[in-house]
Amino acid sequence: MVGCSIFQLLVSAFFLCSFFQQPAHALKKSYIVYLGSHSHGQNPSSADLESATSSHYSLLGSLLGSHEKAKEAIFYSYNRHINGFAAVLEEEEAAELAKNPNVISVFLNEVKKLHTTHSWQFLGLEKNGTIPKDSIWEKARYGEDTIIGTLDTGVWPESKSFSDEGYGPVPSRWRGHGVCQFGTNNSHKVLCNRKLIEAQFFIKGYEAAAWGKVNASLYTTRDTEGHGTHTLTTAGGNFVPGASVSGYGSGTAKGGSPKARVAAYKVCWPPINTTAGGGCYDADILAGFEAAINDRVDVISASIGGPPTYMYQDPIAIGSFHAVANGIVVVASAGNEGPDLGTVSNIAPWIFTVAASTTDRDFRSYVSLGDKKHIKGSSLSAKGLKKFYPLISAEDAKLPNVQPDQAKICLNGTLDPNKVKGKILVCLRGETNRIDKGIQASRGGAVAMILANDVSNGDDTEADPHVLPAAHVTCKDGEYVYSYINRTKNPGSYMTKPRTELGIKPAPSMAVFSSRGPNTIIPTILKPDITAPGVNIIASYSEAASPTDPTPSKYRIPFDILSGTSMSCPHVSGIVGLLKTFHPDWSPAAIRSAIMTTATTLDNSNGKIEDSDLAHQATPWHYGAGHVQPDLALDPGLVYELNTFDYLNFLCASGYNKSGLLKLFYDKPFTCPKSYNVADFNYPSIAVRLGLNPVNISRTVTNVGPPSTYYVVARAPEGLQIFVQPNYLRFEKTGEKKTFHVLFQPAGWPKHQDTLFGELWWTDGKHRVRSPITVTRIKF
Ligand SMILES: *[C@@H]1O[C@H](CO)[C@@H](O)[C@H](O)[C@H]1NC(C)=O
Ligand SMILES: *[C@@H]1O[C@H](CO)[C@@H](O)[C@H](O)[C@H]1NC(C)=O
Ligand SMILES: *[C@@H]1O[C@H](CO)[C@@H](O)[C@H](O)[C@H]1NC(C)=O
Ligand SMILES: *[C@@H]1O[C@H](CO)[C@@H](O)[C@H](O)[C@H]1NC(C)=O
Ligand SMILES: *[C@@H]1O[C@H](CO)[C@@H](O)[C@H](O)[C@H]1NC(C)=O
Ligand SMILES: *[C@@H]1O[C@H](CO)[C@@H](O)[C@H](O)[C@H]1NC(C)=O
Ligand SMILES: *[C@@H]1O[C@H](CO)[C@@H](O)[C@H](O)[C@H]1NC(C)=O
Ligand SMILES: *[C@@H]1O[C@H](CO)[C@@H](O)[C@H](O)[C@H]1NC(C)=O
Repeated sequence: MVGCSIFQLLVSAFFLCSFFQQPAHALKKSYIVYLGSHSHGQNPSSADLESATSSHYSLLGSLLGSHEKAKEAIFYSYNRHINGFAAVLEEEEAAELAKNPNVISVFLNEVKKLHTTHSWQFLGLEKNGTIPKDSIWEKARYGEDTIIGTLDTGVWPESKSFSDEGYGPVPSRWRGHGVCQFGTNNSHKVLCNRKLIEAQFFIKGYEAAAWGKVNASLYTTRDTEGHGTHTLTTAGGNFVPGASVSGYGSGTAKGGSPKARVAAYKVCWPPINTTAGGGCYDADILAGFEAAINDRVDVISASIGGPPTYMYQDPIAIGSFHAVANGIVVVASAGNEGPDLGTVSNIAPWIFTVAASTTDRDFRSYVSLGDKKHIKGSSLSAKGLKKFYPLISAEDAKLPNVQPDQAKICLNGTLDPNKVKGKILVCLRGETNRIDKGIQASRGGAVAMILANDVSNGDDTEADPHVLPAAHVTCKDGEYVYSYINRTKNPGSYMTKPRTELGIKPAPSMAVFSSRGPNTIIPTILKPDITAPGVNIIASYSEAASPTDPTPSKYRIPFDILSGTSMSCPHVSGIVGLLKTFHPDWSPAAIRSAIMTTATTLDNSNGKIEDSDLAHQATPWHYGAGHVQPDLALDPGLVYELNTFDYLNFLCASGYNKSGLLKLFYDKPFTCPKSYNVADFNYPSIAVRLGLNPVNISRTVTNVGPPSTYYVVARAPEGLQIFVQPNYLRFEKTGEKKTFHVLFQPAGWPKHQDTLFGELWWTDGKHRVRSPITVTRIKF
């Protein structure tokens, strides 16, 4: 895709375009120095904390020559769970520190980006506006005992989604102190309540990244961008009747765990300094993890990420390692870098990584061309057209001296109002905000806009609150419109007012923007893990943010419709919250396994889930285990368990103990196993690499249901044979574990295919415990 992906623009405004600009004067830069775990365990005393911080000063002081200099350089000392610090250093100093045997890694404090009403019905939690008695919501008491924290752009505390009416006291295990930072504007604690139980901001990483202290009036957790409010309410927002965006999609808004308590950790900042840009800095992300772990949230939802990165220098991987070791589930977005393969980020095996797909709802505006052709478009425009109007391609409406390519995408200043006035303008998607194209059309005097997808966006159309009647059409339909204009003397068109349509088939289909596998960092772990609704999601918004951002306008709405893996991630976080309430003793791995093994790969027309990019079958590289089915996740039958030692063994086998660093991940004596096969790592999905010889792997399942006997079904693709041993597992009691082996044998690998997809599942007639399989050919 050219320049900034429009999806990311929609959810993250300026972030993408501007964060590459590094100030020229920066001799010193801010770094994170990661030291692994603390020896003080999980309940440090204040003396422990002081001693940890003091050890950071000593470590750096011995390099800089004095304790004082170290104190000045360090702006975060991570002294509770994560062991490390963030400091402003010279490049040579950073390199020197990296050689210290007590240091795991040193990396630059860089920027990461931010990656309703109906989606829960699509997931089966409601039926026809009512909640069935057997819904996971009823069974799991709407997640009332769960605490969900987000690392994001903060929160709009006045949103009705944070009403605490009828809420009892906060669960006693909560260790937060009711920190409720909303700046000088309203510093009193009244903005937090029994629903929104914590609001903290972390900005030192942003400031240290080069631009110095920002105006103290900005020291607030208040969300001025909308993203954080949207994600937090999607995960855990309370019921709000009558939610809609300009009258569309109206219904009761709520999160996945509507009765959960929520905590906002603001680690992402708007472009406060427009030269510098905005984003989420590594040092602030780590500080957010520290606070959330310390407060004892149950779920951390992180709709942020960077490019795929090695785990020891990725703050999200590091922060979530410590969170998971403390029993917290970490859910993160896969990224919005699709449709290219190998783009999935947040790939660590302890993270729950979420892709994005559509629901069966769209906001449709129909276009009728003069040749009687009818085309479906998506839109949230307030109006349609009453009659037929002439149609013109933006390319044909360009000013003299303007490049046709620039006019075609309706850039500001490229269109001739004399040509546009009174017509329907056709703009091509790309480079600028979709809503901005409508603003340019409107400024030129157009009565309406047809927004045509470019090739890279395929069939992904977005319903946006445009300022004029508009319809966003697929690439194929867009090409039809262009060719109709080319071959017609007086082209014209009509456009209906958008209306909400439900039951659209096929759905879900994978969003074009959703980042895809394979996992380029750890090929033996399939990522993403799961897909959930992430297209046209309605949730609460910040009333300080304009939905036409980055184009300024006075338009404000309490709810907005957004798309991104940023939106699918909190859906899964909300579902995790329900499982946590229902099964308070389950490990993060068991909860993830339950959600993965009960997912489906079928859509609502009983076909295989499609990829919106090419309208053919999607694969585990798009959706991992498949589309989430919350009701089934409550009772998965069997789970694939993993604990901290499994993760450490995995790190050993993945070469993370070169130069003896591994002991620092973990504070107690631990020895890497002599032989450990990463292929045996007990992940709920299976990704193997296969050469000429067969590969034999193992997995262990734990029975979380009643006594039962499970039989295996394995589906091998053509060119591969899969044998499972034994082929049945008899469980006498709950909690019992059984190990099985899977043998992969090449059988005439098809030409031109480097990866084959299969699946296996265990079933006792009642449960179906399914694992996706990817087999990649090792080339010689
Ligand atoms: C949904 O509810 C409406 C009335 O509330 C009823 O007329 C309709 O038949 C119901 N549809 C289904 C599929 O149950
Ligand atoms: C101050 O708080 C009020 C609501 O209490 C809000 O409307 C306003 O935007 C806030 N101002 C800033 C600068 O955050
Ligand atoms: C900081 O922001 C406040 C409120 O917007 C403004 O009144 C003040 O002048 C600003 N201070 C500086 C130093 O820019
Ligand atoms: C904004 O950042 C640039 C560097 O990117 C810096 O030169 C400038 O002083 C900053 N402006 C303010 C107002 O902080
Ligand atoms: C378009 O560009 C002009 C300057 O060339 C600027 O004044 C105006 O605000 C821009 N308008 C929009 C809607 O972007
Ligand atoms: C329509 O004609 C223009 C030139 O006027 C050309 O650039 C464009 O490719 C044509 N489009 C189609 C779909 O034929
Ligand atoms: C890691 O490697 C070092 C040698 O480089 C070894 O002494 C140490 O025992 C290993 N750590 C573990 C956990 O096995
Ligand atoms: C796979 O390995 C296990 C244990 O190492 C062994 O028991 C089993 O027989 C092997 N399966 C095959 C088909 O080689």
